[in-house]
Amino acid sequence: MKLTVNDVTFSYQSSLSLDKVSIEIPETEILGIIGPNGSGKTTLLKCINKILKPKKGNIILDGHEIQKMSRLEIAKHIGYVPQSSVKPYALNVFEIVLMGRRPHIGWQSSETDVDKTWKALEMLGIEHLALRHFNELSGGEQQRVLIARSLAQEAKILLLDEPTSNLDIKHQLEVMELTRELVTKKNIASVIAIHDLNLASRYCDKIVMMKNGKIFSAGNVSSVLTPEAIRSVYSVDVIVNYTNNIQQIVPIRPSTPAMIKVQH
Ligand SMILES: Nc1ncnc2c1ncn2[C@@H]1O[C@H](COP(=O)(O)OP(=O)(O)OP(=O)(O)O)[C@@H](O)[C@H]1O
Ligand SMILES: [Mg+2]
Repeated sequence: MKLTVNDVTFSYQSSLSLDKVSIEIPETEILGIIGPNGSGKTTLLKCINKILKPKKGNIILDGHEIQKMSRLEIAKHIGYVPQSSVKPYALNVFEIVLMGRRPHIGWQSSETDVDKTWKALEMLGIEHLALRHFNELSGGEQQRVLIARSLAQEAKILLLDEPTSNLDIKHQLEVMELTRELVTKKNIASVIAIHDLNLASRYCDKIVMMKNGKIFSAGNVSSVLTPEAIRSVYSVDVIVNYTNNIQQIVPIRPSTPAMIKVQH
C-alpha cells in the first residue's frame, strides 16, 4: 500500500503544529519519526489516520484521498496504536483485541476472528491477561494489548505512537522485533514515533527527524542521526559509535546549562 503525505499543514490553535510536511511512506519498511516533545509526531500520525483534518495538503492511500474515505475503510488498511489511551475501556483484554477484527466482520464474529484474536494475544505474550479488565492493567500491559489489537486488525500500515515508552527493556526489544518480523514477513509498512534514538537506529529503515512541526531531515539512519543534527534539534551533544554495524548514540550532556540548579 502506498501512502504519501503531501504538504500537510495543521494547527490546533494559532501556531502551526505541522508545517508543510511531506513524506513518502516506504511500502515494506519501518519508518521512524523522531523529534523533541511537541515537535508534531503525534499530530502527524493522527492526520494520517484521519483523526485530525489537515488545514492544507492531503494524504493519499493507494490513489485515494484519506479525507474521502470512511473510518471503517481506513481501519481496513491502517492500524493505529495511540501514545496514551484516553478511553477507559470497560472491556476485558480479549474483547479489546477482538475489536481489531471489527473492520473485517459484520456484527457477529466468526471462529476465524476468534482464532486471529488468540494468535495476536499469543504473539504479544499476553494470553494470560485475556480475561483481565483493560483498566486494571499496568501501562506496559495496556500498550501490548493495543498492539495486539492492531495485529488482529491485519492492517497494511501500522502506525505506532511511542510503542515502547511504557515497556521494560525486554518488552521494548520484543515489540520492536515483532514489528520488524511483521514488516518483513507480511510485507507491511510501519510508522513509529519513538524517542529512543538507539532503538530507532537499530530497527528503523528510514528516519524522519522533526523540529517545530517541520521535517528537519529524512533518510537513512546514518544520514539522519548525526551528532550535528542531534545537537541542532535536541541541543544535546552526542557521540555516535558503531558496534556490530549498529549505530549507537551516547549522549554527553545538554549543550545549554540546566534551568534548575540543585541546591546544596
Ligand atoms: N489537543 C491539542 N490542543 C492544542 N495544542 C496541541 C494539542 N495536541 C498537541 N498540541 C500542540 O501541538 C504541538 C505538537 O504536538 P504533538 O503532540 O504532535 O507533539 P509530539 O512530537 O508528539 O510530542 P511528544 O514527544 O511529547 O509526544 C505541540 O506544540 C503541542 O503543544
Ligand atoms: Mg506524541
